[in-house]
Amino acid sequence: MMTEQGLTHGTDSPPAGARPFWSVMIPVYNSTKYLARTLESVLEQNIGPDAMQIEVIDGYSSIDLPEPLVKQIAGDRVDNFRHSQPLSMAANWNSCIERARGEWVHILHSDDYVLPGFYSRLEASLKNRQDVGAAFTRWTTVDPDGHILALTYGFTPLEDPVHYTRELRVVGLGHVLLTVADTQRAHDFYTGVLGFRLSDWVNIDEHVRLCFLRCNERHHSLAFAPCMPGKSPRLQHVMFEVQSLDDVMRSYHFLRLHNAPIGMGPGRHPNCQTVHVYVQTPGGFAVELGWGHRRLDDTHEPIVYPAGTPVDVWGGNIQSSEFELG
Ligand SMILES: [Fe+2]
Repeated sequence: MMTEQGLTHGTDSPPAGARPFWSVMIPVYNSTKYLARTLESVLEQNIGPDAMQIEVIDGYSSIDLPEPLVKQIAGDRVDNFRHSQPLSMAANWNSCIERARGEWVHILHSDDYVLPGFYSRLEASLKNRQDVGAAFTRWTTVDPDGHILALTYGFTPLEDPVHYTRELRVVGLGHVLLTVADTQRAHDFYTGVLGFRLSDWVNIDEHVRLCFLRCNERHHSLAFAPCMPGKSPRLQHVMFEVQSLDDVMRSYHFLRLHNAPIGMGPGRHPNCQTVHVYVQTPGGFAVELGWGHRRLDDTHEPIVYPAGTPVDVWGGNIQSSEFELG
């Protein structure tokens, strides 16, 4: 987010007072892969043309021209400007600022999107602040299925297990399983972009193919299952690693005695060898308490477990209708 103050406008700039508060300028070049989401996120803010200029600036794309998509999604609400000759990415960004009419200019890249309330909340904090020249917001990374990721650094693991009101010793966050539209696409993104390594594929049947990725010695920190038909990508479960087999079995009986919806377990997974119990939460995802999670080193070669591989080598299966794998 940048202010246009100090920059020269063209002679056709409207007089002061008639300017919109916002100019949302979206530079595009040779790809509209994420542009629809970008545009929709701005249009969903429901800010009219008097208060917000929205323009897509095409840096002379030779393929995948944005104009048809802009018209399809936004009609005349969003302007589409196409340069008449090739120019550098930086030059296109500068042209965004030069073409902006608003008091505040947001150069929104065509593979980014804003969350609901983004502009109204920023406007509330910027309005009548002549002493502010630039504003910076939180940003985060989104995977191809829309899962929002937080990249962090510097966590220090607790030396002592966390103590609960019942006897349970959690030693760390083990992993999450996300449902995705395409497990191969998720694999490619997380290995190719974020550097995860493939531990294995587990084929439950010919339709359900699970992918397990690691980023440390844990067998997996991320796993993917395909969405059930008609379902959207979501968090399927989060696994907390517990200190002992007793913690798993004690939890199983605790959950059973309290009539909690147990999803699976007690059982042992075939690939990571985790002894587990899952409980469905009111939030729509499950929590897995697991012990014995396998550790891998750099010599590990990815394994493909064939169709028919059970989720539990002890013969257990999904117990609760609320617990869906995908
Ligand atoms: Fe798990």
